[in-house]
Amino acid sequence: MMKTLMLLFLGVTSSWAADYEFLLEDPDILSPCTDGPPGAIDAREAVDFEHIVINAEADILHVSGNATVNWNVHPTDRITAKLELLHFNRGSWEPTVFTMNAKDFCSIMYDKNQYWYKYWTTYIINRDEVEEKCIKGPGVVLVHEPFDVRLKFMNLYGPTLRGRYKMVITFHALDDFNVPRPKPICVEIRGEFLKLK
Ligand SMILES: *[C@@H]1O[C@H](CO)[C@@H](O)[C@H](O)[C@H]1NC(C)=O
Repeated sequence: MMKTLMLLFLGVTSSWAADYEFLLEDPDILSPCTDGPPGAIDAREAVDFEHIVINAEADILHVSGNATVNWNVHPTDRITAKLELLHFNRGSWEPTVFTMNAKDFCSIMYDKNQYWYKYWTTYIINRDEVEEKCIKGPGVVLVHEPFDVRLKFMNLYGPTLRGRYKMVITFHALDDFNVPRPKPICVEIRGEFLKLK
């Protein structure tokens, strides 16, 4: 009885975990930010994608190749990373509860508990070099083993996602006095969440 009541309660106050597919809006995947921080550069300016191959096949992106970081920052800079999910609602982009912040991205990029690692950095295999230099260019090469990015997300808890969304990913470099360098990186991935069940 108690359990049933609790389930009912949960059922009306929050949504159950749901499965989603994210349908990409931009075939280039990483778009420049429409509302990024002042002076922001996009992925293509920050990184040389010439040797990166991305093949889309249904809900899977096959990624392979090496990326050379062109971002011109100082080796002792602290890199912050932020990922925000925004929802397009009645003509404007609104924040959601889904947000991640790394105050020191370089110290956590090989932390197994981080989404950054699960979805990306685990596939950067020249780990010794990248742990030392991180993404502080210019000239750092990120050697990727081929990997798949699945655009299906299973068992996501939280409010129901419906409609148009974008993930905005921002990297800042801060100097020894915590002053941001002039050209942060900002990229966004736009698409639509389709609820599967
Ligand atoms: C990536 O770089 C590594 C190390 O330099 C090299 O062995 C490999 O062939 C490169 N892969 C591609 C696809 O360019």
